[in-house]
Amino acid sequence: MAGLCFDMYGTLCDTSSVRAHLGEELGVADRLVAAVDETWRRKQLQYSYQSAQMDDYEPFWAITGHALDYALAQFDLDPDAATRERIREAYDHLEPFPGAVEALDRLSAAGHEVVVLSNGNPAMLERLAGNAGLRSHLDGIVSAHAVRTFKPDPAVYDHAAETLDRSLDDCRLVSSNAWDVAGAGNAGMATTWVNRRRDPPESIGAHPDVEVGTLPAVADDLCSS
Ligand code: LAC
Repeated sequence: MAGLCFDMYGTLCDTSSVRAHLGEELGVADRLVAAVDETWRRKQLQYSYQSAQMDDYEPFWAITGHALDYALAQFDLDPDAATRERIREAYDHLEPFPGAVEALDRLSAAGHEVVVLSNGNPAMLERLAGNAGLRSHLDGIVSAHAVRTFKPDPAVYDHAAETLDRSLDDCRLVSSNAWDVAGAGNAGMATTWVNRRRDPPESIGAHPDVEVGTLPAVADDLCSS
């Protein structure tokens, strides 16, 4: 049985509720909210890559705040600091995807070690896992913060394997992010891609070992083998 490393944002928990929260706080037209939300998420990812490449690490909570500041500035919006903070706190209150708890429990019952492996810093991951009702269904939370860089830097996947005291090929990343799957595969982990939107795989990096469409299907695959 393997060490299963679940990505958090977009894999176990659904980030789509962030848009509604943003709309409530900004009180502007839906199309503008959608544009800010799209830019925010894109910049959050870009800033994580950029800070890792520039060797200028900041915790993912701060990266998320910087990305929000950029997205607001891009659309000439200037809410006060308290509003910005309430918007960012949407990341503490995401819903788990359907079947998340049941899938984690089935995998644990089958003998797998089940942890989160995320770019989120430990404090934000603990808050979300607690609020989403996932914490007691996990054997642990492993954060990129420990190695001051972000996935898909191989150092993060190496850190997870070390933390679980397993070899890389005895660990499996489960993620909805194609770039995460490509990076984990390149680093030497087995991978399962939860491809809900039926996207093509990344054209660079490793292709997924297993591709499924839902979290329950992850358990179906790994509990039968
Ligand atoms: C995670 C995000 C970036 O690592 O998907 O949880």
